[in-house]
Amino acid sequence: MPPDHRRVMRQFVTGVCVAATYTDEPTGRRHDAVTVNSFTSLSLDPPLVALSLRHESRFLAAILASRHFAVSILSGQHEEIARTFAQDQDARARAVTSMGRPGRASGALLLDGPGWIECRLDRRISVGDHTMIVGEVLATGLGDNDGPLIFVEGEFRSLEVAKP
Ligand SMILES: Cc1cc2nc3c(=O)[nH]c(=O)nc-3n(C[C@H](O)[C@H](O)[C@H](O)COP(=O)(O)O)c2cc1C
Repeated sequence: MPPDHRRVMRQFVTGVCVAATYTDEPTGRRHDAVTVNSFTSLSLDPPLVALSLRHESRFLAAILASRHFAVSILSGQHEEIARTFAQDQDARARAVTSMGRPGRASGALLLDGPGWIECRLDRRISVGDHTMIVGEVLATGLGDNDGPLIFVEGEFRSLEVAKP
C-alpha cells in the first residue's frame, strides 16, 4: 500500500506564521491568534493570499465575523510563540494580550519578525475538511530576518540564512 497523504506531506518543508483576527464584543475587542503553515500567496495582481483552517476552528469563525485578519511570518527565534498559538483558545487568550500591536489596515495583531500582511476577507472556499480563506492584501511590512522558522516531519527547525 502506498504511504498515506499525511506521511508524504510531512516531508514537505513549510514556513510558519501566526494568523490573527478579533471579535468585537460589548466589553471591547477580543484578539485571537493561531499558528498556521497553510499560508500561501495566490496572486500578485491583484495581491491575494490564502490560508486553510479546519471547518470547526473557532479562529475561523472569528475571521468570518470580523472579515479581517493579519499574518506574521515567524523567524527561528519564534518557536515558543509558534507552540503557544497552536494551543486551545483559552491558552491563546492569555498569551495574545502581550502579542504585538494592532495593524492600521486590519485592526488585527502583528508581530515583529521577517514580514507581515494585513488582509480583508475576499472569499471563503469549502475544500474537503478545511475552509480556504482568501485574503485581499491591504498592507504589508518587512522586518529583520535572521532566518525563518520552518516545519518539517512534524517538527520545528530554524534555518540559518547566510548573509552576503
Ligand atoms: C506548525 C503548525 C501549523 C498549523 N497550521 C494550521 C493550519 O494551517 N490550519 C489549521 O486549521 N490549523 C493549523 N494548526 C493548528 C492551529 O495552530 C490551532 O491549534 C487550531 O487552529 C486551533 O483550533 P481552534 O481555532 O478551534 O481553537 C497548526 C499547528 C501547528 C503546530
